[in-house]
Amino acid sequence: MPAAMNYKHIYHAGNFADVAKHVGLMYCLGALQRKDAAFFVLDSHAGRGYYDLQAPEAHKSGEAERGIQRLIETSMGATQLADYFATIRARRGKRLARYPGSPALIASGLRPQDRALFVELMPAEARAAEREIESLGRVRTEIGDGYAALKAFLPPEERRGLVLIDPPYESLDELKLMLQALADAYRRWPSGIFLMWYPIRSASQRSMVHARFEALRIPKMLFADLAIHPDDAGVGLAGSGLMIVNPPYGADDYLRDAYAAIHMGIAVPGAGYVEVARLTAERMAQ
Ligand SMILES: C[S@@+](CC[C@H](N)C(=O)[O-])C[C@H]1O[C@@H](n2cnc3c(N)ncnc32)[C@H](O)[C@@H]1O
Repeated sequence: MPAAMNYKHIYHAGNFADVAKHVGLMYCLGALQRKDAAFFVLDSHAGRGYYDLQAPEAHKSGEAERGIQRLIETSMGATQLADYFATIRARRGKRLARYPGSPALIASGLRPQDRALFVELMPAEARAAEREIESLGRVRTEIGDGYAALKAFLPPEERRGLVLIDPPYESLDELKLMLQALADAYRRWPSGIFLMWYPIRSASQRSMVHARFEALRIPKMLFADLAIHPDDAGVGLAGSGLMIVNPPYGADDYLRDAYAAIHMGIAVPGAGYVEVARLTAERMAQ
């Protein structure tokens, strides 16, 4: 059983890392929609459907203020972010009242033939997702351990689709748990698209995370890293990382441009970077 947790995503919803992760998620969903055949989405650490950006927790942290709210002010004109802004219903000059979490974004990308499963450990969060997301018979929410769900529900009968693994990294062994779960899930479903979010705190920690992914020896892995603070700036999170297994065609260029737009819009002046590159393709090709 997973350990008890104190993590509450409402403090972080709509921060730059959420935006970066969701921009990558939306691109992959869009790619799946290009074919008519049904797809399946499993969100193993789903959180709730929507986050109230007026909630005291959101005000207290100020993360959405420096994240999505600032991005709307600075970057509504960025063409690379237009689809994302449209999906979250952001409008020029208007503050966003509620921020859609990954289950809301996924549900908005499902067609009648598609299906999604949201798994969340905290009952109150899972119930909120269940309450706020219109299922139309395509969506199921389970209270439970996301890592156990990866074992129980993969591979799906649809044979195409994606998995989002977005744990809170509260405990020191979360990275290890996530990598073990990915290795096992990839063995079960080698053609699935897998998206894993990871925090970036410093250059050495980022290299360590990349090396641990690389050690899995999965052939097609794309990392998309966006930092908006200097390393070890004392802000908790210098950057946001997204590892994509089996990235859809065009993801490299799209994410490079979209993350550059986010960086330009909200990075601390002179700080941070964007790096989007294949982790293993070159080595495997030799
Ligand atoms: C970073 S938040 C998820 C945010 C969400 N994916 C989004 O993008 O909107 C992590 C979530 O994982 C939940 N959680 C923590 N441990 C879990 C576990 N073992 N299985 C499933 N959910 C878990 C937390 O309660 C929290 O809601």
